[in-house]
Amino acid sequence: MNKKYAGCDLNEIIVGEPLPTTLYLFINSKFITYRTPGDIIDRNTYIRFELKKVKNLYIKQEDLEKFKLWSKKHTPELPGLPPETQDFQESRQATQRKMLDIFQSNHPDKAITLAMGASKKLVFEVIKFPYTAHNLTLLQLYSRGAVDHSVNVSVLSVYIAMQMGYSHAVTLQHIGAGGLLHDVGKSKVLIKDEDTEEIVRDKMIEHPMLGAALLEGQEKIPNEVRTIVSQHHECFDGSGYPNRLRGNAIYDLTRIVSIANVFDDLMGEVRGTIYERQKEAIELLDTNYYNLFDPEKLDKSIKILKKGF
Ligand SMILES: [Fe+2]
Ligand SMILES: [Fe+2]
Repeated sequence: MNKKYAGCDLNEIIVGEPLPTTLYLFINSKFITYRTPGDIIDRNTYIRFELKKVKNLYIKQEDLEKFKLWSKKHTPELPGLPPETQDFQESRQATQRKMLDIFQSNHPDKAITLAMGASKKLVFEVIKFPYTAHNLTLLQLYSRGAVDHSVNVSVLSVYIAMQMGYSHAVTLQHIGAGGLLHDVGKSKVLIKDEDTEEIVRDKMIEHPMLGAALLEGQEKIPNEVRTIVSQHHECFDGSGYPNRLRGNAIYDLTRIVSIANVFDDLMGEVRGTIYERQKEAIELLDTNYYNLFDPEKLDKSIKILKKGF
């Protein structure tokens, strides 16, 4: 490899922040300019890299220090707030690694079994230390792409369910695993370099069914988890996909995961400080997106989220 260039890990890239240096891709044995200083890598682009199983991008060796400083400066932390407990942090990171394995593997079956194990521990941590405001806020600072989103949706779903009064450990484990694996079908969507954003969006419509099919052959995956995966884009008003299910035809636990899913997506779309984004995402759920969800569950979730943040 050319000594003039250094590799940088995909997770060193900060989504939504202007780049300090030029980024290069290594294609057909050549370094090709991909983005220049001041450009922004948005969440969709980042997810595309994850799904195309890209692990590295490149920068000029002389820009390395500048890049590392930038990456570190924007690494999530909120001054004045206590950090996550070590057990929770370890569990979250282990779950992220397992999810990355799923998204980056061509044969994810084994990775899914390992992710189920990691999910169990993570849900246990959430049950052990019922969340306070700072934990949820810290969690959503980790919001780069599909892997972070999966973990966020899992923890948020379990948190919301617990605050709603769901207390049975098995039920909470189903919600946690369903939340974690809800987008697993995206790993099976074939994306080509030449695909436009619209084409990628159209192809993505398949991901709930691809995800359910992926989990079909796995005997250790409970039906409840598979149902959450296949239904997570169904909407209460019948406008969702793939089966346009309506109202109570959507499984009770799916209706919680769907709210956490859209909330975390909105957090990635709106701009501002973490607190401004939380406020705006909650407002959007309450207005523009209200009809998509079970109104009783949404009202409760909004109260819980407002209290949590
Ligand atoms: Fe999805
Ligand atoms: Fe999602």
